[in-house]
Amino acid sequence: MYAYTLNSNNQEGLNNLQLNEMPVPNPQKDEVLIQVNSIGLNPVDYKLIEKPLSSFEYPHIFGLDAAGTVVSVGENVKGFKVGDRVAGHNNLQKDGTFAEYAIFPDYSLAKILENVTFETAAALLCGAMTAYQAIFRKMNLTGKKNILIHAGAGGVGSIALQLAKLKGLDVITTVSSSKKPFVTAFSPDKIIDYKHENVSEEINKYTNDVGVDLILNTVGGNETYLDVTERLAYNGELVSIVNVPNFSDNNILSEKGLTISALNLGGAHSSTSINQKKDLGKMALELLELASTEKIDANITEVLPFNQLISGLKKLYSRDSLGKIIVKI
Ligand SMILES: NC(=O)c1ccc[n+]([C@@H]2O[C@H](COP(=O)([O-])OP(=O)(O)OC[C@H]3O[C@@H](n4cnc5c(N)ncnc54)[C@H](OP(=O)(O)O)[C@@H]3O)[C@@H](O)[C@H]2O)c1
Repeated sequence: MYAYTLNSNNQEGLNNLQLNEMPVPNPQKDEVLIQVNSIGLNPVDYKLIEKPLSSFEYPHIFGLDAAGTVVSVGENVKGFKVGDRVAGHNNLQKDGTFAEYAIFPDYSLAKILENVTFETAAALLCGAMTAYQAIFRKMNLTGKKNILIHAGAGGVGSIALQLAKLKGLDVITTVSSSKKPFVTAFSPDKIIDYKHENVSEEINKYTNDVGVDLILNTVGGNETYLDVTERLAYNGELVSIVNVPNFSDNNILSEKGLTISALNLGGAHSSTSINQKKDLGKMALELLELASTEKIDANITEVLPFNQLISGLKKLYSRDSLGKIIVKI
């Protein structure tokens, strides 16, 4: 099979990623082998290519998200059979999905509903599952009215906007000027052009100095702990998916009764909780159901052929992309 690999640990970086011929892997007893149809690209892919884990063996196949057809299953696998259309977010410690065939642990897969395409399924994995886990799992929405979602045009942000709307929240999002038309389509209640407007001031004006109940931070260090405490309302909650700001002054947290949560979607693969592992497959299925009933759009803005996968990653790296880029084999 053909697969995108780095071939040694001293040749990292997107420019060294190569299409190589590799053996088709064999599934172990709790694993499923799929023939990959569509791959979803994510920032974590180029991050790992630029800075591979020290535990990788070479040649290492990159890629985490894929949708395809089951071609063989391990002896313990009960929920999937040859021919099933499935999608999943894979374990970054293992060989991945930038390949014609890929292995998944059975708990991480979801069956793709009949009216959902492989491309849509591949677009609703890492980014969408992160948005889903933030809003449907982590955040306590009881009595909460509004949410600030950073980078509304990104893979995570563009799904989070739609999920927050489904939950009836008043939605504020940050975006750079050129991406405003893209996020306008999701009808956020307020768009802040963060490169030209002061985010904290705009939030204070919009909320009459109360602050927002919830923040989904998808951009890390751009939001310091002082920004967070200034922007959150009393009893507010931050879910951070990049870097949790350093709250060295805990008095501010207790004065306002704030909740600070870190989210690490793929961390479930390494956890000892089978319930948390299985939740990966469950969240993927719940998102496919929302797409199947047209409650959310997967926001696919480009579908590239397999031989253009690297140019898709470079576009994502340069922050030029909108929504999701899909690669079709
Ligand atoms: N913890 C987890 O489990 C988890 C899961 C998924 C993703 N992530 C991380 O979350 C981040 C967002 O993922 P995504 O899929 O939404 O990415 P994406 O599709 O590339 O979108 C990110 C957008 O954020 C905006 N941005 C603003 N400031 C930025 C900055 N300092 N650095 C990078 N982008 C900035 C850019 O749009 P503008 O032009 O509007 O600025 C960019 O297009 C990535 O770093 C990703 O690795 C973490």
